[in-house]
Amino acid sequence: MAQSKQKTNREMLLDTLQSTEKTSAEDLLFNYKGILYPSTICSKEMFEALETFEARDDDLLIVTYPKCGTNWVIQILHEVVSMIQNQEVVLDQPMIEFGNPQMLERLKERPSPRIMSSHLKFQVIPKSFIEKKTKILMVIRNPKDAAISFFNFYKSMPALPTYESWNLFFKDFIHGNVCYGSYFDYIVEWNKHVDDKKVMAVSFEDMKTDFPTQLKKISEFFELPLTEEQICTVQSRTSFTSMKEKSEDTHGKLGDAFFRKGQIGDWKNLFTEEQSKEVDAKFQQYLAGTKLGELLNYTKYCKM
Ligand code: A3P
Repeated sequence: MAQSKQKTNREMLLDTLQSTEKTSAEDLLFNYKGILYPSTICSKEMFEALETFEARDDDLLIVTYPKCGTNWVIQILHEVVSMIQNQEVVLDQPMIEFGNPQMLERLKERPSPRIMSSHLKFQVIPKSFIEKKTKILMVIRNPKDAAISFFNFYKSMPALPTYESWNLFFKDFIHGNVCYGSYFDYIVEWNKHVDDKKVMAVSFEDMKTDFPTQLKKISEFFELPLTEEQICTVQSRTSFTSMKEKSEDTHGKLGDAFFRKGQIGDWKNLFTEEQSKEVDAKFQQYLAGTKLGELLNYTKYCKM
């Protein structure tokens, strides 16, 4: 009898997400140390197991607040590593915090370099990633588009509760009462580490507007240099259109939830002037004058 292939962590997590039924916020979210997480794929047990997770010097870690281009950058690194190694690497474990401790055990068997990602705040990232030489790529996106993307994601993901209106979601977003907590706290905390040699930050907007330059920076940072031709190939394989077309293969029924519009400035279609000013005030209070604040190019991308 033919042996059935063992599913990867990624496939098992997708199965869980696809089979989840939308229920109440109480059932779908749980609070761990003051932050909300999706309960179908995150657990206290997993967070505890992560405390002793062993990173490797050559892991490639992507850190993002939700909806800032995580899947895009995962795919980019996947293409780059596969190209350099001349063989397709297995893409496993989308976020290190998803799943169960057995999945973390299985990650020990994965060959290097492992491409990993996380939405966790700096304080909660397994310490081993910080102690080792693991390089960390931070991807940030302007808060207004991130909020709109998050709102739509809540609507289309069975594992997240639906908000009756954008206005209600906005209130929770601005107060940090959404999964993974406050956008602003997240960026403020990571900003403290942006000058570390093993950390590099790029913005979604720069990647959209000048992909070749950003990819060159990313590949040099990870010491995976690419030729001009290879950069073009990665660009075409990871364009929004190309990733959306392949999304049924990569993300199953949830493809449309992960690849929605992929644009800059969609916030202008939903934000009221008052909401826009509220975000401007938060930006001013927390991020103006910081390195990550500068990288966001706030005036260009977030002013009415
Ligand atoms: P929108 O909802 O604004 O379309 P994440 O992967 O962190 O969940 O981020 C999802 C956001 O990144 C979505 O934004 C999605 O469309 C966008 N995105 C995904 N792949 C992309 C790509 N190849 N190019 C541009 N944007 C992309």
